Amino acid sequence: MTQDEMKKQVARAALEYVDVGGIIGVGTGSTANHFIDALAEIKHKIDGAVASSEVTAMRLKSHGIDVIDLNSAGDLSVYVDGADESTRFLHLVKGGGGALTREKIVAAASKTFVCIADDSKLVDILGEFPLPIEVIPMARSYVARQIVKLGGDPVLREEFTTDNGNIILDVHNLQIMEPVKMEAQLNNIAGVVTNGLFAIRPADVLLLGSKDGVKTIT
Ligand code: A5P
Repeated sequence: MTQDEMKKQVARAALEYVDVGGIIGVGTGSTANHFIDALAEIKHKIDGAVASSEVTAMRLKSHGIDVIDLNSAGDLSVYVDGADESTRFLHLVKGGGGALTREKIVAAASKTFVCIADDSKLVDILGEFPLPIEVIPMARSYVARQIVKLGGDPVLREEFTTDNGNIILDVHNLQIMEPVKMEAQLNNIAGVVTNGLFAIRPADVLLLGSKDGVKTIT
């Protein structure tokens, strides 16, 4: 089974968490794209979806799924999204696609966060995948200096602007032993919009696609 087939398999398994008659949150990335394609088959069962990025909104609309503004949706029953890394404690690194801020907002507004990933994403310690940080452009150098003091090596994501008009610093060489503490510490730097650690609000369920089928970690 290829990595893409594992992503498809796990995306389909997440349909089980979709409540009939509700509005759901939908993430961003290749695994989330498979989920959107599967969701299209049961679109008559939901009232619509809140998108975590412009690209996800476009894909939802292309399938005829209503895209709802989060401000009109209230709290969501479920949010389904991928991850770049996850631990067994369901602490995540996200933002490889640059949509981390809206992803974090939609996850925060959702009762249950179902993370879908192939099993290559499961790690013991977060940080091998460079940690994305969304930064207000004028704060780029200041934020980079503060990150160096914390032991990271920030690299500007070239030719990339987020949906919110900001830049991304990808932070290399962090060994994230205390994800909750580091998430708060990084968010406290002036000029940081948010960082790609999802530990203060981790996933509630991790569905992992593997060659032996889908594993559920809670
Ligand atoms: C998007 O900003 C990310 O948080 C994605 O959820 C993450 O990069 C996973 O993407 P894939 O499903 O493409 O691996």
